[in-house]
Amino acid sequence: MTLPIPTRGAAHRPTAPSATLLCVSLTASNLPSLRSQLSAAIAAGAQIAELRLDLLEPETDWKSLLEQSPLPFIVTNRAQWEGGNSTLDEPQRLSMLIDAIEAGVSHIDVELKAADEFWKLLNNRGVKLSSTKLILSHHNFDRPLSAEEIRATLSSMKSKNADVAKIAMMAKSALDNCTVFRELQRADMPTIVLAMGDLGKPSRILAGKFGAYLTFASVAQGKGSAPGQVDVKSMVDVYRFGEIGRETRLYGVIGNPVMQSMGPVLHNGAYRERGLDAAYVHLLVEGEVARFVREMSELGFCGFSVTIPWKMDVIEGMDEVEEAVTKIGAMNTVVKGLDGKLKGRNTDWRGALDPICQKTGGDLRGKRVLILGAGGAGKAMVYGAVESGAEDVVVANRTKEKAVRLADDMGGKVAGIGMGEIGEYGAFDVVMNSTSVGMIPNVEECPVNVELLKEGMVVFDAVYNPLETRLLQEARERGGVCVSGLDMFVGQAELQFAAWFPEVEVPVEEMREAVLKQLGSQ
Ligand code: ATR
Repeated sequence: MTLPIPTRGAAHRPTAPSATLLCVSLTASNLPSLRSQLSAAIAAGAQIAELRLDLLEPETDWKSLLEQSPLPFIVTNRAQWEGGNSTLDEPQRLSMLIDAIEAGVSHIDVELKAADEFWKLLNNRGVKLSSTKLILSHHNFDRPLSAEEIRATLSSMKSKNADVAKIAMMAKSALDNCTVFRELQRADMPTIVLAMGDLGKPSRILAGKFGAYLTFASVAQGKGSAPGQVDVKSMVDVYRFGEIGRETRLYGVIGNPVMQSMGPVLHNGAYRERGLDAAYVHLLVEGEVARFVREMSELGFCGFSVTIPWKMDVIEGMDEVEEAVTKIGAMNTVVKGLDGKLKGRNTDWRGALDPICQKTGGDLRGKRVLILGAGGAGKAMVYGAVESGAEDVVVANRTKEKAVRLADDMGGKVAGIGMGEIGEYGAFDVVMNSTSVGMIPNVEECPVNVELLKEGMVVFDAVYNPLETRLLQEARERGGVCVSGLDMFVGQAELQFAAWFPEVEVPVEEMREAVLKQLGSQ
């Protein structure tokens, strides 16, 4: 049984674009720079821009920017006591926002704490909001708000006649995203709730899934007006912001660190290629991974990739796991079944073994296999080699005891040895490296004595940065057959895609190209 696949018709052409606005926060301090930021934002796909008066140099003619802009604007003049730059006294600061209303701006942002003062001033000046929408906002840069605090704050904003209620709070845990999503779902007015910081990025990217009024993006990487903002180009091109709506199926990669993962580029590219209404995000998780997976799947996540350091701890959150997970003691894939159950799988070992077996005639029967490294990845490779029918398997590790223990766990044909003992074990048909030796920046390092590499030997390296490691280069020069870490990375991702969308053909070539393009641009 599989989940029905929601599609959006032709690839690249969403028929139901997100109703949530994509707002770019301009951070420049003078008119020429603001203009160039605005053009870049428009080119990248922004639908509205925020102008922060408190970041401007004195005397900047900001009204001319509003007049000439093809985009609507939110005008904000953030007070220092709310995390902004404005040190003007309150009547002066709020008056600038009233000037913006008179200039016909589409939204102004007023701090909840200044709402009473704002309404008083507006009345005194005899100005009406007319078509300008009032955003009342609350920021906490120190900590997240509880669900109860969020509700009380939103209700206070409503009672003070906000058109849009906005809360920005600092995330301290990935679980804060779950709180944001639940509160957005139950909000009864146009609402923005977002968790700031790297931990809160999903709350910004997935705002459209949960019906937020808008989300904020930065004009470029590192140029955000608040912590954790994603640049507008990545929002649109990598995460497909404009195509995320209430029906969108969510996926993501859980890890720490995780932002370097190419999963989103690869999987979102595949969804786009196949016209799937699905989105895949980075999920930075620093603790409580099992709880995170469960809460997120209740909120609409249908699957996860899991990477270091959570491949073991996440097992606790599963309703069931396949045999490979039990044997290896680690998993990298969560699939949510139609019954709502979370199933743990390990596609790492097949990701590595499939491309290797393609070079050895389908399986490893009759082959002698050497595996370098006895960590989590080494264990998956040992399991894979045994599953693929290897004649015998030797696992060699810097710390010999770990190799011996791993061999004991795996039984029969596996021997555990120290790195220095490899020479005593004769010739091998297949060598697999699971250690990080040779990875950037240590590209000159090789995990094994090159004398061991022989013509016709199949050599695999889990490291894919660089694409051709010293190990693979040495093997190639000696007539070896090479399998790169890229093959494994794409292989395990193909298996994940197939597990999540069983009726859809995996766009293998596009996945590979997306990763190559990303590696090339780094
Ligand atoms: P993973 O899940 O990627 O396998 P891990 O469990 O931390 O990560 O295991 C890392 C493996 O790489 C170990 O086998 C480690 O050897 P030790 O057990 O002796 O630590 C191996 N490794 C890492 N750096 C190494 C190096 N510079 N030389 C040799 N082996 C190394």
